[in-house]
Amino acid sequence: MADIRLGLSYDDVLLVPKKSTVYSRKDISLSTKLTRNININIPVISANMDTVTEEKMAIAMARAGGIGILHQFMLCDEQADMIRRIKRSEGLMIENPYTISEKSTVHDVNLFIKEHGRAGLIVVNDDARVLGIITARDLLFEADNGRSVTEIMTPLKDLIYEKPGISTEEAKQILKKNRIEKLPLLDNDRRIAGLITSRDIERHSKFPQSATDDKKRLLVGAAVGVKDYMIRVPKLIEAGVDVIVVDVAHGHSVYALDALKAIKKEFDIDVIAGNIATREAAEELISAGADALKVGIGPGGTCKTRIVAGSGVPQITAIMDSYEIANEHGIPLIADGGIRNSGDVAKAIGAGSSSVMIGTLLAGTEESPGRFITKNGMRYKLVRGMASFTAAEARKQRQEQEKHRDVTPEGVEALVPYRGYVSEFLNDMMGGLRSGISYSGFKELRGFIGKGDFIRITPAGMKESRPHDISEL
Ligand code: XMP
Repeated sequence: MADIRLGLSYDDVLLVPKKSTVYSRKDISLSTKLTRNININIPVISANMDTVTEEKMAIAMARAGGIGILHQFMLCDEQADMIRRIKRSEGLMIENPYTISEKSTVHDVNLFIKEHGRAGLIVVNDDARVLGIITARDLLFEADNGRSVTEIMTPLKDLIYEKPGISTEEAKQILKKNRIEKLPLLDNDRRIAGLITSRDIERHSKFPQSATDDKKRLLVGAAVGVKDYMIRVPKLIEAGVDVIVVDVAHGHSVYALDALKAIKKEFDIDVIAGNIATREAAEELISAGADALKVGIGPGGTCKTRIVAGSGVPQITAIMDSYEIANEHGIPLIADGGIRNSGDVAKAIGAGSSSVMIGTLLAGTEESPGRFITKNGMRYKLVRGMASFTAAEARKQRQEQEKHRDVTPEGVEALVPYRGYVSEFLNDMMGGLRSGISYSGFKELRGFIGKGDFIRITPAGMKESRPHDISEL
């Protein structure tokens, strides 16, 4: 018995307060490493679950400074299209603006707008040379659906355009001076080389915290499975994905290692591998090329793995053990699962993770894809574990390969209280985290990683930690 180690989780420990040298908690930087090569501005990642991260969540997360990982339980083309839309959603320049042929009619333009939600269309001839632009204003009061786009577009001779390479400030001045919303960039052959819009410039100043790539487009990640990664990864990269997550429940397995090695060999992209809970797993996955490790076997709010399989490691111990190895190699850890409040985030970082992945809490926000449900006058959203019965059934309907597989569920389906917008939720969480960093005597998140001074507590200590002996309003 003496050889059986003790495993600790979030509620078993507290961070011991240290002298703080911070005057204002607002000054504490939360910027961190997501992977070996990618930085984010707040240490939060939305989980690759089908009730958590699709397009809206990924946009909201990246605008707030974190990142979303699109789940893999959709067709590969759907996932790639989502990435394209996220990448187009903002950025200082749209690199490949939508174009439409000069042979199109008003009807075609309306159809296009309905499908893509964009009204700025560049009209081109068969040789891809620009003839003009169609904007929402041109379509206003246009009743004749059969009219040619060339009759209603702003033709090249009246178009204000620039050459590629113009600075954002110059573009802003031109947009302002000419009271226009879109500035096409044309190369010497009169082909479209980019589009700058006032909406994107404005958005950029509205979300200064955004986590973006070198072209100022929002960061986004996507999950792939261990069976289809060779088909998925190239398509996702082509669509502009920033990071790939190899989505396996048991990351310390030969098939997960094979997938990781193959992706790292074939493609030039950062890969997050996992999930793991031990030093040995960290060691092997790092040797196989992982650019970040996802730590967490069974802590998730919708998980049943520890009950069904009897396997797992309480999260604080899992993070600390993995950190011993990951830190030697400079590989960031992501604490995945079981986060219930900002105190847990502070503990995860103090134990050695560089960021946290959140599922259940974010499933309750406006931007999650889950359905709204009203019960006893309260609003809820639906969340389900990806190894739950209903998630497996949904997959069976979509994916041929799953049809003949018997699945023992290791996840549950549940209701989570509605929590409002992602930005509000993260604001609260990050306020609490800043407070935690300052209580531990640090001035920035990066310095605090793995440096928490933990004290173990008893159930009496935990009871004392929560509001008690009152009737909460
Ligand atoms: P939270 O607690 O934030 O955790 O909801 C999110 C993480 O939980 C994992 N996950 C599962 N684990 N069975 C499991 O054992 C499941 O059905 C399941 N679904 C999600 C996953 O790592 C996620 O990021």
